[in-house]
Amino acid sequence: MASFYQRHILPRLIKCACGCEMVEQKRAAIIPGASGRVLELGIGGGLNMKFYDPARVSGLTGIDPSPELRAYAQAAPRAAGLAVEILDASADAMPFAHASFDTVVTTFTLCSVPDAPRALAEARRVLRPGGQLLFCEHGSAPDAGVAVWQRRLEPLWKRAFGGCHLTRPVGSNIAAQFTIEQLESGYMPKAPRLAGWVEWGRAVAV
Ligand SMILES: C[S@@+](CC[C@H](N)C(=O)[O-])C[C@H]1O[C@@H](n2cnc3c(N)ncnc32)[C@H](O)[C@@H]1O
Repeated sequence: MASFYQRHILPRLIKCACGCEMVEQKRAAIIPGASGRVLELGIGGGLNMKFYDPARVSGLTGIDPSPELRAYAQAAPRAAGLAVEILDASADAMPFAHASFDTVVTTFTLCSVPDAPRALAEARRVLRPGGQLLFCEHGSAPDAGVAVWQRRLEPLWKRAFGGCHLTRPVGSNIAAQFTIEQLESGYMPKAPRLAGWVEWGRAVAV
């Protein structure tokens, strides 16, 4: 059974940290590229929803195992005319047929799923051939001095932040299963470097 912290404090913490200005700028740059039938992994507080273009998106399905975050997402602002369904499901075993979606979106979710390569394999399975994965994820930093602290603090960090990992590679995990068409990276300004190395872009399912 989830603790008081997991039910009441952590969802607010996640919504607040994920809603900071630097992250919002990344969302604004990436999410309008979504088109067709869209699946968002770990939709959390629904902070991407206001950036989807209803003229390009025929429907948005968001999944998340957290009931508290799904409730936030249900109430999150979105453009008029955007058809949204939010489901209780896990990214590593999704209840969707092969090739059900044109776009899969993952933002700050692959750090928290139990098995990121498995979630990416599922994303590829449910995308139609040629469908796109739009991503923005934090992960393992390239600087040895940062990486060593990521490794040291990860066990504590995971306990405090709902299973969030600091040391997962982003681009290489995606490149193992998709063709990357755009990949950018850098430290988020004003964010602690420990969780501030971010990689974002677009990949295609082949
Ligand atoms: C740091 S939050 C990011 C939320 C959202 N993607 C965003 O950009 O604001 C991580 C999210 O991953 C979700 N999550 C954890 N395990 C998951 C799983 N197995 N499948 C899908 N989502 C999961 C959490 O509930 C949480 O909403």
